Amino acid sequence: VDGFKSSGSNRNIVEHMKTTGTKLVVFFGSQTGNAQGLASKLAKEGQSRFGLKTLVADVEDYDYENLVDFPSDSVAVFVLATYGEGEPTDNAVDFYEFLTDPNTAFSSDRERPLKTLKYSMFGLGNSTYEHYNAVVRKVDQSLETHGARRLCATGEGDDGGDKTTEEDFLSWKESLWQSVASVMGLEEREAVYEPSFDVQEEGSTQAEASHVFLGEQNSLHLRGEQRGPFGAHNPFLAPVTKSLEVFTVKDRNCLHMEFDISDSTLAYQTGDHLAVWPMNADVEVERFLRVFDLWDRRHTVFSIKAAQQGRDPFPTPTTYEAAARYYLEICGPVSRQVIDILAQFSPSPEVKAAMTKLGRDKDHFHQEVTGQCLNLAQLLETLSPSQPFSKVPFSALVEGLRRLQPRYYSISSSSLLQKGTISITAVVESRQVAGAPDTRPLLKGVTTNYLLALKKQQEGEAQPHPHGKTYALEGPRNKYTSRVPVYVRPSNFKLPADSSLPVIMIGPGTGVAPFRAFVQERAEQARLGQDVGKTILFFGCRRKSEDFLYEKEWEEYKALLGDKFQLFTAFSREGSEKVYVQHRLAENADLVAELLQHKAYFYVCGDAAHMARDVSDTLVRIIAEKRAIPPAKAEEVVKSMRNSGQYLEDVWS
Ligand code: FAD
Ligand code: 2AM
Repeated sequence: VDGFKSSGSNRNIVEHMKTTGTKLVVFFGSQTGNAQGLASKLAKEGQSRFGLKTLVADVEDYDYENLVDFPSDSVAVFVLATYGEGEPTDNAVDFYEFLTDPNTAFSSDRERPLKTLKYSMFGLGNSTYEHYNAVVRKVDQSLETHGARRLCATGEGDDGGDKTTEEDFLSWKESLWQSVASVMGLEEREAVYEPSFDVQEEGSTQAEASHVFLGEQNSLHLRGEQRGPFGAHNPFLAPVTKSLEVFTVKDRNCLHMEFDISDSTLAYQTGDHLAVWPMNADVEVERFLRVFDLWDRRHTVFSIKAAQQGRDPFPTPTTYEAAARYYLEICGPVSRQVIDILAQFSPSPEVKAAMTKLGRDKDHFHQEVTGQCLNLAQLLETLSPSQPFSKVPFSALVEGLRRLQPRYYSISSSSLLQKGTISITAVVESRQVAGAPDTRPLLKGVTTNYLLALKKQQEGEAQPHPHGKTYALEGPRNKYTSRVPVYVRPSNFKLPADSSLPVIMIGPGTGVAPFRAFVQERAEQARLGQDVGKTILFFGCRRKSEDFLYEKEWEEYKALLGDKFQLFTAFSREGSEKVYVQHRLAENADLVAELLQHKAYFYVCGDAAHMARDVSDTLVRIIAEKRAIPPAKAEEVVKSMRNSGQYLEDVWS
């Protein structure tokens, strides 16, 4: 597989293919790296399965005019993501505009200028948005119009709701290889693994040596320095100053946590998000290292470099243990493709057969792996309980797992009231996996259980064990004991600049987080004598006696805001029928309609999959009824409220 960038100034893809002998080029249009990742996987697979000379190409690096001379014995694949309102990714803007503008595309006067181009295409999109996969659809159409030959149906990956792009990608990919093999007359061979990363062991186990990364995100942290600007590559290690349980029921937890940022240049505004870096739990780190036979070598120091141009996956030199604890997402869902790839490194032919079956059979995989919410090591440990997977190259794990990602939390404090302290409200993910055997341990979210363990430690309690998980909270470097890496991500989920405007807030469950901040801020503005408009909150939870978040605090805000503040509650599990926030909204249709006439801002926070849509539909019905207009018109009204920023969502799934 050739590198990502065109070599030097040669922007002619056809010349480049000829000089390198490339037969399959995979172009990508990528924003956050997903499309690029899939493009690399394809190029790698073409080489390992069919012995093809392949090239991964950023569409930005080549001149599109040269596509008219595309060699007829070769194939081009396009992997293109769609963003926002149907827009191409930044690197694909010129390509997209060139191809879709009838005035610029191929000024050549040849008829069907792309007639030698054989291509296939995969798009990345999200069906909860209106312009689903618009980019790939338009480019596909344009290529066809210019005479190019589509080898197989264009694939569309859907990342919306509870879907993932992987299954769409895998099924499209098989039709791609079938058609490529047939048009090029290729024979499939036994896959040969070629690492994308060079892993070099230092031969030392001096894990405490000052040059070895043990969870630090960058060399500044490694030197023990905290210096701004803080951001995604340089988080602030924040002390936790308060941690409280806000549920009053025993078997579920919801944390109110406060982080001190006064000692940093970090600043936030009411409505922003806090990114929190977790670490993996001891039990999962040990499981992972044992499954891959790395436990005895866990303190061995190694470095890792991308074999081609491109970013190193995480900071090194580090140790295998630190990589598993701080840098790799070892607990997340398993990729079917990764199981198929790892099968060749199985400890026995029986295990290899079982893994190949899982890797190739979508339904079987879903039943045995995804449906059981197993992570990689849990799955492999079940498949081969007595023999570890010693033959798996570490580079294959780095390729197959994502880097450990920060999680986002809606800030639940007002920056007007507490500039130097950020609070979040996080419900601890811990649940029985539906349909899994009783022996299956609870599925525990990485970050929220890490935060729960921090809270217990602060209270001097033992960490939850053996039913829960323990974490290396003391940290490898004592200076940062019990600090949490965080940064602030700005959002546009903001109160109106004019405080006298009314606000309507819908926040069931932890969706109430930013609204605690909003109400806090409006109460403080009232205390300072400012004119504050109506402040209406719809909150929903299971039972008043169990999970009524900030129940006492609302009284304090009421004391400051008086009639300006109204709280409507929906307790879903108290009666025989479910009562949700949207039911309360509908009951108060008159009030809602009246406030909207007075330019009220409408906010929704919490569950994206169902609640946000139900609330939006309810508002459409209220507007249709109260303004006596047809539903389609009311939908237009809500749409224009969204476009003008009067209807704002802060939702997640
Ligand atoms: P994770 O380890 O990330 O697991 C999360 C889920 O992934 C699991 O419940 C499960 O469904 C699935 N999963 C995990 N592992 C597997 C597996 N092996 N197989 C199959 N499925 C698996 N949350 C709040 O509580 N409060 C907030 O204010 C808040 N605000 C948010 C704001 C934004 C903009 C966003 C994007 C999210 C917000 N969230 C909020 C959600 C939060 O970011 C986290 O997603 C949540 O806390 C779970 O994180 P976790 O690390 O504990 O769980
Ligand atoms: P339930 O769990 O009893 O169904 C916070 O999670 C609250 O939101 C809970 O009371 C939950 O009710 C409720 N909820 C669940 N689905 C919802 C939906 N589609 N719309 C609004 N609220 C919902």
